[in-house]
Amino acid sequence: MPHFSYQHGQLHVENVALSDIAKQFGTPTYIYSKAALVENYSAYANACAAGNRNPSETLICYSVKSNSNLAVLQVLNQLGSGFDIVSAGELLRVLAAGGDPRKVIFSGVGKTRDEMRLALSHDILCFNVESIPELHRLNEVAGEMGKRAAISLRVNPDVDAKTHPYISTGLKDNKFGVAYDDALECYRTAAALPHIDVAGIDCHIGSQLLDDAPLLEALDKLIALFDQLTSEGIHLHHIDLGGGIGITYDDEQPVAVGDYLGRVFAHIDAWRKAKYQGAPLTIMFEPGRSISGNMGVMLTEIQYLKHGETKNFAIVDAAMNDLARPALYQAWHGVQTVAEKNSQAQSITYDVVGPVCESGDWLARARDLAVSEGDLLAFFSAGAYGMTMASNYNTRGRAAEVMIDGDRVHLIRQREDAKDLFALESKLS
Ligand code: LLP
Repeated sequence: MPHFSYQHGQLHVENVALSDIAKQFGTPTYIYSKAALVENYSAYANACAAGNRNPSETLICYSVKSNSNLAVLQVLNQLGSGFDIVSAGELLRVLAAGGDPRKVIFSGVGKTRDEMRLALSHDILCFNVESIPELHRLNEVAGEMGKRAAISLRVNPDVDAKTHPYISTGLKDNKFGVAYDDALECYRTAAALPHIDVAGIDCHIGSQLLDDAPLLEALDKLIALFDQLTSEGIHLHHIDLGGGIGITYDDEQPVAVGDYLGRVFAHIDAWRKAKYQGAPLTIMFEPGRSISGNMGVMLTEIQYLKHGETKNFAIVDAAMNDLARPALYQAWHGVQTVAEKNSQAQSITYDVVGPVCESGDWLARARDLAVSEGDLLAFFSAGAYGMTMASNYNTRGRAAEVMIDGDRVHLIRQREDAKDLFALESKLS
């Protein structure tokens, strides 16, 4: 991961030693590199700017669910990013970070009336509608408010994204989006509703995609639908291809963001030129993991080394409540010792596990580590779906978050203490 390297025998984030962070803020702690965040976003922004493409013809809407810390959103907002949200909470975060609601799109299958009202009151750019009942509800809520809601239909293109079943979302039997064969009819319904403005079309076929072939296949299906809609007089102003480009956790080699976007633009430009005399259209993306994933590590301290009959365990102070991905998806995260060498210890194969009372509470399996109790470990590629999926299981306070900017250390979220955890509870009177 760029910006994470050993210097003087100690793992650093940019110019700061992780051991210093542990001393200052304790463990477990999520640590993000601002430079990595900026670079990851810039890969998208630069691809959009290539070939002098008009800035109004592209919009990157960072997927807030991957990492929603206010400082992360603030940095991305300053870089010009829009935001893809899935809840009122995420919208309020974007606003608190200074984000522009006119660059916000609202995805998700279960939007409540209150969430629609909040989003409409801020005039967000677009609702990515996922069902006919949602369309009718949105029409009703917008009508009550004397507003019109801009919508895009999330179409399920029935394309196999070839990723983990839990994070593959574009197949027929997923709960997401409207079926491809029903989409035309849904658009006709939408176009006839008095408080709905049909604005675009979108899809999101899955997460952690290494190859862009399924995404380009999905694009072709959206284009076919777009043409049909145009011939019926339903005019769309944008195509949104969702998120999904994967990152390197181990030895995966995902397609480069610039190559993927370049292929999308080439494809769209050729189609627009042939059929629409090059009339402008906005292309949108909703990347999450490829922006936030490899900007961060989770830092944890080994509490005990336990040598069992068949396995050795390194028991650390982080757990499945801090980093849920291994327990949920058998996800693999790189683990490195913060001290480059421990001359007191032999290399042994360990399962790295947390203190939570579940056998599923593991963070890494069968890793060769030369470690002693008290050593610090860094879990790599933890910037996306790490802290945002953390819970308070076992009444464990969530980790602190720190952002490094060169030599500067910013505490961007304090560690939760036990009092925070039961502050909203009350005993019977
Ligand atoms: N747009 C929509 C509608 C989505 O559902 C998602 C992710 C994204 C964009 C962003 O996708 P990305 O660029 O990050 O792949 N917790 C899982 C990942 C769940 C992804 C859910 N949707 C994990 O830790 O792997």
